[in-house]
Order: sequence, then structure tokens, then C-alpha cells
Amino acid sequence: PEMSRGLGDVYKRQMQLRLKFEILNSEFRVHHHRNPIHHIESRLKSTRSMYNKLVQRGFPTSIESAKKNLNDIAGVRVVCCYIDDVYDMEDMLLRQSDVRLIERTDYIKNPNFNGYRSLHLDVELPVYLSSKTEYARAEIQLRTVAMDFWASLEHDLRYKSTKNIPEDISREMFNCADEIAAIDVRMQRIYKQIQKL
Ligand code: GTP
Ligand code: MG
Repeated sequence: PEMSRGLGDVYKRQMQLRLKFEILNSEFRVHHHRNPIHHIESRLKSTRSMYNKLVQRGFPTSIESAKKNLNDIAGVRVVCCYIDDVYDMEDMLLRQSDVRLIERTDYIKNPNFNGYRSLHLDVELPVYLSSKTEYARAEIQLRTVAMDFWASLEHDLRYKSTKNIPEDISREMFNCADEIAAIDVRMQRIYKQIQKL
């Protein structure tokens, strides 16, 4: 419980990041007359998951240690309409001079072993203190509604199953991810065709 105290600044950073995306969304709308972002979700990592991750990695279990050693205490998920929107939002965000990219994992170009797709950005944002500026990290997941559909159900299925998921079911899940990805490409193409009319 003592870990959940002292998370106020992390929460502020998460809100700051959400706001950045909301502004990017309206800026994009001015130029393209539509919203690239379908919706935004955000969460602070639970103290239990923080604790477990710190123990797993052999770090001290304190809030200071979590802030120093974990990238994903603050997490923002940006669910976009089309695949191009994901990369457009990334470009627009990283063009901002106060956002520093720490790590980028493109699970869209290189899907995870199970078929999971998303673009993960670990970033650092400034926290302005009276005497100095500190940088603090956050994890951003960018994905399309279609990728979000698969990821949400996969997450749900994984947690509902007490046993390891059998090989044939995993393969079926992987195939679903591939089919959804193909539909994502088709929807993107349809959007472009309609835009040309
Ligand atoms: P950290 O250092 O802990 O961030 O490890 P990592 O960088 O290897 O983690 P990664 O960036 O791969 O994943 C971080 C988050 O992405 C997870 O907490 C999930 O929210 C999401 N994620 C990654 N893989 C999957 C997956 O297979 N299925 C689902 N549903 N979500 C995933
Ligand atoms: Mg990560």
C-alpha cells in the first residue's frame, strides 16, 4: 500500500501524454477532416504488478525504485482507425521537442510470436521542478481498432484459462490475428479509394 503513495507525478505525466494525443487528434482533423484516433485508454500499473516485476528483475521494491527501473508505470494506449494513422501519430508525437524516445518496438511490422500487433514506444517526458527538470518514462501502445479487437480478446482468453493454452488453439489464435491484419489492410485501401472520389 505504501507504494501507491507518491504516484501523483506519474499520474500527471499520464494525463499530460493523453492530452498531447487529444491535441494531435484535433490538429489532424483540421487538415484531414476526420479523427485518426478512435479512442484513448490509460492506466497506472497496479502496485501488485509493479512489486512482482521489481522482484522478478531483482530491483528494490520501493516506489522510487519502480520509477527509476520500470518504463511502464504510466501507460497510454492510443487506438487508431487505420494502420497509417498509427505511424502518423507516432511521427507527430516524436516531432515534439519535449518527447524523448527511449525504445521502439514495432510489433506491426514484426508481430509477436502469438500474432500480437501494436507499435510500442517507451518515451521520456520532462517533469519541471522548481530547481531542475527531471525526465520520467511512460509506455505508449499505438494500434488500430482491429488490432485492439484481437489483443483484448487474447488477453481475456489467456487470463480465463488456468492451464497453458494447447498448441492447436494457439495456432488458431495466430491465424485469426493474420486474417484481422489482412482486413486492416483492406479497410485502409477502401478508405483511400473513398478519399479519391
Ligand atoms: P517491459 O520491459 O516490461 O516493457 O517488457 P517488454 O518491453 O518486453 O514488453 P512489451 O513491450 O513486449 O509488452 C508490454 C505490454 O504490451 C504488455 O504489458 C501488454 O499490455 C502488451 N502486450 C505485449 N504482448 C502482448 C500479447 O501477446 N498480447 C496482448 N494482449 N498484449 C500484449
Ligand atoms: Mg516495454
